[in-house]
Amino acid sequence: MLSPIPREVYELYSGLRFWERWHVKIRWRLCPFLQIAGHIPAEGRIVDIGCGRGMLANYLALTGPRRRVTGIDKQAPRIRAAQASISGRKNIRFRLRDALGLEREEFDVIILSDMLHHLPPPAQEKLLGHCFRVLPDDGLLLLEDVTPDPKWKWVVHFLIDRTLNLGIRQYFRPLPEWIALLERIGFAAEHFPAHRGIPLPDFLLKCRKTGRGE
Ligand SMILES: C[S@@+](CC[C@H](N)C(=O)[O-])C[C@H]1O[C@@H](n2cnc3c(N)ncnc32)[C@H](O)[C@@H]1O
Repeated sequence: MLSPIPREVYELYSGLRFWERWHVKIRWRLCPFLQIAGHIPAEGRIVDIGCGRGMLANYLALTGPRRRVTGIDKQAPRIRAAQASISGRKNIRFRLRDALGLEREEFDVIILSDMLHHLPPPAQEKLLGHCFRVLPDDGLLLLEDVTPDPKWKWVVHFLIDRTLNLGIRQYFRPLPEWIALLERIGFAAEHFPAHRGIPLPDFLLKCRKTGRGE
């Protein structure tokens, strides 16, 4: 298991209902948020797309006073929970927004954590292409998601995600396919294994905008 949620992050969610706080805690243990955070610059404009209740965004803002962090999500209840966690801090905000509405050079760093496998392949490609277009030259995309390998971890992921998202289809790609897609779009992608210590097949790709795009 990954490390427990830091106390200063968990305390931000004290106003939520019991099961929401439970989800905040479990989600932190099952996602390599600290590993993602380790690749985020200490300053700059950072957006967490599909931020959910905003745990990673909150952690980045708390640990980086010179970061300006934005979390966006298209589910209103999640954004409401995230907004309730801000309590007056100035370097973080949460917005009900669709990822495809991001504007050119609005952010230096984009995070996509466990959201792409909820989109069908054409929508995944459209979103990654949009991320490429809106990032400045040399901008950074952190992509964390799950692949079908190792198989037993993928089965565990499938069972957990299916239980939490009953009836909602999911779309997976092998890691080499993600890398090929990102490189075709114009990113230079560096792989960091992210499934050690958790029973889930997570990977992390640190993608630098280097090319001019397709
Ligand atoms: C599995 S959750 C991951 C939440 C969070 N990133 C995490 O790692 O805990 C995926 C989130 O992406 C959001 N989402 C999906 N498509 C989106 C879009 N086009 N624009 C903004 N948010 C989106 C969903 O509403 C959902 O909250």
